[in-house]
Amino acid sequence: MRPRPSPRAALFAILVTASAAAAVVFGANPLGSRPITTREGALPAGTDLNDDLFDQPTERFVFEAAGGKRSYLFNLGDMAFSSPAIFGGLARQAGVSCDTCHQNGAGNPKLYVPGLSLRPGTFDTTGGLFNPKTDNGVLDAVTPPSLRGARHLAPYGHDGRSASLRDFIRNVVVNEFAGPEPAPEILDALVTYVQDISFLANPYLTAGGRLSEGASAAARRGEALFYKPFPRDASLSCAECHKPSAAFVDRLVHDVGSGGLFKTPTLVNANYNAPYFHDGRYDTYEQVIGHFDQAFALGLTDEQKHDLVAYLETVGHGEQPYTRETVDAVLDEIDNFASVLDTALANRDLPVIELAVDTVGNEWRELGEQFPDRTNTAIVGGLPERLAARRATLAAGLSLRRIAMAAAAGDYQGARRAYAGYRSDAAAAAPVVKQAVAWSLFDPKMRERHFAALRQLDELAATPAADSRAPGR
Ligand code: HEC
Ligand code: HEC
Repeated sequence: MRPRPSPRAALFAILVTASAAAAVVFGANPLGSRPITTREGALPAGTDLNDDLFDQPTERFVFEAAGGKRSYLFNLGDMAFSSPAIFGGLARQAGVSCDTCHQNGAGNPKLYVPGLSLRPGTFDTTGGLFNPKTDNGVLDAVTPPSLRGARHLAPYGHDGRSASLRDFIRNVVVNEFAGPEPAPEILDALVTYVQDISFLANPYLTAGGRLSEGASAAARRGEALFYKPFPRDASLSCAECHKPSAAFVDRLVHDVGSGGLFKTPTLVNANYNAPYFHDGRYDTYEQVIGHFDQAFALGLTDEQKHDLVAYLETVGHGEQPYTRETVDAVLDEIDNFASVLDTALANRDLPVIELAVDTVGNEWRELGEQFPDRTNTAIVGGLPERLAARRATLAAGLSLRRIAMAAAAGDYQGARRAYAGYRSDAAAAAPVVKQAVAWSLFDPKMRERHFAALRQLDELAATPAADSRAPGR
């Protein structure tokens, strides 16, 4: 699950109600032209975490297809994946979690952090900003890969440097984002969760990776080309590296003329994985095919290129790739995350209790922010309902804290009582929150109004007053 929009409301109010003064505010703002959010405010000017999505990448899990249920370890992993608290330093402060870059287990095509990104959708995990100790002194920004089908996609990293998912994730937490050594259980949970992220269904593909009945004639011609040996080297074909029967990978690294050895990426659901190649240099399949045509002297005709694109689009398809955010989905997620407290309290497992209280508390706070208070003048009507929703989310968050306080003091009886209190506060909050949905950012019209007003602010900020800042600031 990805984070939801940050609390811009307070700043928003100052700027909307005193729009004449807005340019002045922005003129004095060393962070530049975009409105500051709490998240992005801690990061360099011009950062885009792309965290305002209404239609979010759909998440599917292996256990669902197997008819299974969410396990404790899976819920813990899901929660840790959304939690900045497993990181240290700036990532934690800026509210960055695994989910920021791997949105609902997919990628993040717009992620941009000045100094760490070469273009939108790329990020340098060995830059110094998040952990000065891992700075390799080179801006080698790469795309955060989609984690769909991750269990089939070892070795990990674009350069395939890590055979072990566990080692890879530990390195992300401790070295890339300066987190404390994770409890072994939390690491296991993250691995369980990532391995459970599955591909989206694709009715055009058989289990063996061949096209099924529904595919177009062009895609079928493209499929034949995909298996055809290359003219200059008959040991090679597209399918030789992208093995259709093995999730379209061979688990090896190759030099395909893109500047080094990189692992063969999957092509399943790849329609949603642009920009392509390790460094995100290509936006389209046409460009990728142009690259292979040149690098391997394939001599493809325009028609053949077109057929290959049709094939890639068919293999790259996924059913219902995006899912609209709803208040019910958020409440369910809060429930799933909070459910780890059942086990963690029984085990007197303080690190997990504290992580859960922190993460679930954040979720309630972010949910509350979907219900603007009177300072957001773009939203009208339903003020009592909105305020009640905010109060209810606040109360749930506060009662969570009592659990952590009691547990930290070793009073597990008190902690279990506090947990029961939390459960009833959470249950009471749900209907109050749903009551206010029509005036919240879960409502498409309200959301559009809210973001239209924000865009206006962006424009205001780009007025000459903002540009006249002294150079070198
Ligand atoms: C700020 C962005 C960012 C954050 C936060 C982040 N990642 Fe990544 N992730 C990336 C990038 C970029 C890569 C590619 C790195 C490379 O190839 O060296 C990557 C690669 C991966 C891969 C390898 C996938 C593959 O197929 O090779 C896994 C697994 C992964 N990340 C899991 C995680 C987990 C789990 C977390 C949280 C603990 C996390 N990431 C946090 C950006 C991020
Ligand atoms: C020698 C092995 C090999 C062959 C042959 C090969 N590929 Fe690839 N393919 C790769 C590698 C490696 C990359 C990643 C390059 C990078 O990250 O810089 C890649 C990347 C891609 C991508 C981008 C996917 C993404 O998510 O970034 C597509 C699409 C693709 N190949 C399609 C094809 C097609 C179509 C052919 C045949 C014309 C083909 N490949 C032939 C190894 C191969």
